[in-house]
Amino acid sequence: MENALLLCIFLSHWHFLNALFTVEVPQPQYIVEYGSNVTMECRFRVNGELKLQELSVIWEKKEEHTKEVYKLHKGKENLNNQHSNYRGRVNLLKEKLQLGQSMLQITNVKPTDAGTYLCLIGYEGADYKTITLQVKAPYRNITKRTVTVQGTAGHSEWELICQSEGYPKAEVIWHNGEHQDFSAKANTTYEAGTDQLYSVTSTLKTNTSVNETFHCVFWNKEFKENTSAILIIPDCPVGSRRINGRHYFATAGAVLVLFGSSLLFMLWVKKGIHFFFLPYFSPFLMFVDTNRIEIS
Ligand SMILES: *[C@@H]1O[C@H](CO)[C@@H](O)[C@H](O)[C@H]1NC(C)=O
Ligand SMILES: *[C@@H]1O[C@H](CO)[C@@H](O)[C@H](O)[C@H]1NC(C)=O
Ligand SMILES: *[C@@H]1O[C@H](CO)[C@@H](O)[C@H](O)[C@H]1NC(C)=O
Ligand SMILES: *[C@@H]1O[C@H](CO)[C@@H](O)[C@H](O)[C@H]1NC(C)=O
Ligand SMILES: *[C@@H]1O[C@H](CO)[C@@H](O)[C@H](O)[C@H]1NC(C)=O
Ligand SMILES: *[C@@H]1O[C@H](CO)[C@@H](O)[C@H](O)[C@H]1NC(C)=O
Repeated sequence: MENALLLCIFLSHWHFLNALFTVEVPQPQYIVEYGSNVTMECRFRVNGELKLQELSVIWEKKEEHTKEVYKLHKGKENLNNQHSNYRGRVNLLKEKLQLGQSMLQITNVKPTDAGTYLCLIGYEGADYKTITLQVKAPYRNITKRTVTVQGTAGHSEWELICQSEGYPKAEVIWHNGEHQDFSAKANTTYEAGTDQLYSVTSTLKTNTSVNETFHCVFWNKEFKENTSAILIIPDCPVGSRRINGRHYFATAGAVLVLFGSSLLFMLWVKKGIHFFFLPYFSPFLMFVDTNRIEIS
């Protein structure tokens, strides 16, 4: 409320005061990486010694509902109306004020900090300027997975998955080693990640052979940045490993049968009735033997 009033006064006097007192920005745009710190600056003229009790500084973020970022009113810091997004993360470099520099430091920058800021100064007059802040979070850490959907002779159907977090939204481009574009066959989903970042997951289904390479490229259009990962179709599909598992069960069973039957066989030999039973028994022995060959 108080802010709006101050802004009103600023604006109504603006025409008269503009010529006398102006705020300047040495850098109208800042591009900052997520998690880092930024110091935005605007300048005003101080004639001689700064009369701090006559100085008011306001930093606001221009949005549908303006957010107060920082306020110094007639030399006194007042953070009562500071928006919760900025609590504990902003600091005005007071020692710079006497040089006519209003320097606002924001630490641990988040995607929601991106936007237009107003730097308002009241001192022997009043004026303001705007500064834009852009925030980027590169898709550096790409987690990749290859999963077989179904194994067929020669060719398998694979699901290739790339996942990463960043800001702003990235498009995911897929191509193989020969630079053929597969992007149209991929399914990319966007979810809320940590700290307002986007969690981007892209899945490509493909029929392909062993050792073929695929690249997933996270294309951050706004900042003209690309990061990518390489996926290589492995030699041993998950599907055939499952078959291997069944094989183990079969061989373990065969060993058990072999062990048990030789015990029985020895028992029969001892009792001297083997001549009678052997013809019935031999096909079974053969079956056991084939399994043994398969094991080794
Ligand atoms: C950001 O500023 C804080 C507080 O001044 C400091 O502790 C931190 O190391 C800074 N971080 C970077 C990445 O410079
Ligand atoms: C990369 O992402 C994975 C999974 O999201 C995580 O476990 C890992 O710590 C991350 N690595 C780095 C260097 O951030
Ligand atoms: C993409 O994946 C989402 C989530 O897994 C699914 O709901 C959607 O149907 C898929 N779209 C296509 C075109 O496959
Ligand atoms: C992969 O090949 C199988 C059989 O050859 C076919 O049924 C399937 O539709 C193919 N999938 C793709 C994504 O081309
Ligand atoms: C795949 O590459 C590996 C290592 O380079 C090689 O040993 C293997 O023979 C290749 N397999 C095929 C099917 O090309
Ligand atoms: C990023 O990748 C896209 C798609 O492959 C390409 O069109 C674009 O030129 C690349 N940009 C940069 C900066 O490499």
